[in-house]
Formats: sequence, structure tokens, C-alpha cells
Amino acid sequence: MHLSRLAMSVGQSATLKLNELANSLKAEGRPVIHLGGGEPEEKIPRGAYDAAVKKLDTGYIHYTAVSGIPELKKEIASYTEHNYGLKPAAKNIVVSGGAKQAIYNFLMAVVDPGSEVVFPAPYWVSYPEMVKLVHGVPIIVRPGPGELIPGIEEMDRHITSNTRAVMLNSPNNPSGALYPEAFVRELVEICEYRGVYLMMDDIYDRLVFDGASAPRAFAMSGRPLDDSIIVSINGVSKAYSMTGFRIGWSVAGEAVSLAMAKIQAQVTSCPSGLSQAAAAGALGGHGAFVEELRVQLEKKRNLMVSELKKIKKVKLHVPQGTFYSFPDFSAYEKDSEKLSRLLLDKAMVVTVPGREFGLDGHLRLSYCGSEKDIVEGVSRIEKILD
Ligand SMILES: Cc1ncc(COP(=O)(O)O)c(C=O)c1O
Repeated sequence: MHLSRLAMSVGQSATLKLNELANSLKAEGRPVIHLGGGEPEEKIPRGAYDAAVKKLDTGYIHYTAVSGIPELKKEIASYTEHNYGLKPAAKNIVVSGGAKQAIYNFLMAVVDPGSEVVFPAPYWVSYPEMVKLVHGVPIIVRPGPGELIPGIEEMDRHITSNTRAVMLNSPNNPSGALYPEAFVRELVEICEYRGVYLMMDDIYDRLVFDGASAPRAFAMSGRPLDDSIIVSINGVSKAYSMTGFRIGWSVAGEAVSLAMAKIQAQVTSCPSGLSQAAAAGALGGHGAFVEELRVQLEKKRNLMVSELKKIKKVKLHVPQGTFYSFPDFSAYEKDSEKLSRLLLDKAMVVTVPGREFGLDGHLRLSYCGSEKDIVEGVSRIEKILD
């Protein structure tokens, strides 16, 4: 039977595929160590649990407003005001089934067939495929040799009259790098000058180390939100350890928010009402949960870095946020798919090949699992390579 050209052209999510593989190997009783994960191992915040149980106890779980329930929007507005110095109105917020759906809504709302979406490598695995799903053209800006962030001039050079949007994720999955303040400031200026949307994927914005903070693009623009080119994407998946609830959101000008909500209404009607209640409960918890998680992750980052330093020829930029490290293994093997496969076969360690993120020679190693797994996983890798 016929499958569409679209279905045939889109790649599978490499990270989700690896999660499934790790789980099935574990279920077979194999001694697998999963350094490919993309979610914290912590239980959800108490506030999320209580709010979900309370909602469930009412016995009424029905459709909600397309763009989200008022209680959650109120919490998102406070979150945005607290962290970005800008208080959005309810009309500027669209709650979705995960940040992934928010990004997809955004792309559907602004990209015409053939128009370009520019983003730097290394990038989150889904960006190129999502752009292709809306019939856009992904334009990838590569960093110089040994770097994880391209120069702002390189970004500028790739933005043309055919560019509809730029996407930036900082701190970054997979590299853990924070884009410098000056880079983001200049990017805001370039996008405003050229009339191009700037989608800030802020999903890891609370998970930043060494006293640094994530870029606050809204604060770098003098424009009111309804005239802004900036669209901020966020959610409870990472910082609140609530990946399974599938709640994300966007903060943007009214026109683009309305377009995104119109599209979402036709795709999923609304995000799960039960999950929205839980997300409101989590955000209402004033960030204590997030700070505790951040401190834990910073410790695990330090452990991952000190373990990786034992592998002689590995080059590492110390991650400044997220729960990923992205060491360069090219002194051992330039083909990251081949290396990742070897480490799975010979060491039973799951890693994600850098090629999936647009930068071969690297592997993404997560440190969101247990300290024991970090030490054991890296030591198995070291034994194979050295
Ligand atoms: C950079 C980035 N953006 C967005 C998402 C999607 O998050 P969610 O689980 O809320 O859909 C992820 C998840 O891995 C991510 O790494």
C-alpha cells in the first residue's frame, strides 16, 4: 500500500529508538548501562502529584480550552515573569502536548513550503525532521573545527530573504553549551532587523550550572510582546522530571499564538486536562524541586567530567547546563554511528552518535541517571578504547 512522500522522507527519532533498545536489553536481563537517556530519574514534584490526584478525585476529566486552563496559564505567566522579566497575558500563552508539540505548532504556523528555518549544529535531533514535516528547508550552521557554537557572523550569513525562522536551544541538547549573552543579543537584533522569527527553545533554562543563567531573549528586545519576533518554548518535562505528562508551552505575540492554537485545535483539541492540572501543581511549587534537581545534576556533571578525563584522547567542552555531555571521540573513531554500535556490542553501554545531532565524531553521554551508572559506563568505554 502507498505511503506518502512525507512519511518516507522523515527519519525515526534516534534517541527514542535507543531508549526502546536499552529498555528491551534490560528486560532481557542484559547488563546494559543507558547513557543515552533524555530524562531525569527523579520522581515528580509532590505538588504535581497532589494536583493530579485532586483533579482525578473530581471524576471530571474533559476537554479543556484549546490553549490551556487558566490556572496553568497563570503559573506560566508567573514563571515567565520571574525568569524572563516579562509577564505574558493569557492570550500570549499556548499550552501543548509537550514542548515538542509547541515547536511543531510554531513551525506549522510560520513556515510555508520551501521557506527556510536556520539553526546551529549541534542541534536537537528533531529539528531537521520537524522542519521537513512542514515542507520547510532546514538550514544548518556548523561551528568551526573543535567548537560547539558557530560564530554569529556565520548565523547571519545563512539568514536570507527566504528565511522564516531561526531556532536556538540554550543550554543546548546535546552539547550542554550555553550560547554567550552577546551571541543571543546580536541574534535578536539580526532577526528583528530582517523580520524573521526567533524561536528560543528554553526547555533546559533552569538546569544551568556554575552560577550562570540561560539567555533571556525577551529582555534583549525593546519591543512589546505582541510585536515581538521572539517565541519562547518551555515545559515541565525536564526541570520538573515530568516527561510522561506531556506538557509544554509557548509564549509569543498574539497573532502567532492564535495561529498556533488554531492549528492545535485541529490536531489534538487540547492538551490532557489531567496533565495540565499536574503541571500547574508543579509550577506552583516555587522552584524548590527544580533547584534540588539542578544541584544534583551539577554534581553528576562534575562526576561525568572527571570520569571522561580518564579517557586519554577524548576532548571535552565542560557542559554548562542540561544533563548531557558531548565529548569528541574522533581520535579513536571518526564515525560516531560505528563507535556507538561498538560500545553497545562490546561494552553494553548505550550512547547516542553525534551524527544524529549534526556533528560526527562526538557521542552524547547523559548524566541524568545514577552516579553508579556514570562511573561504570565511562569506565567500560575507557577499557574498550584505551
Ligand atoms: C532541546 C529540546 N527541545 C524540546 C524537547 C521536547 O520536550 P517535551 O518532552 O516537552 O516534548 C526536548 C526533549 O528531549 C529537547 O531536548
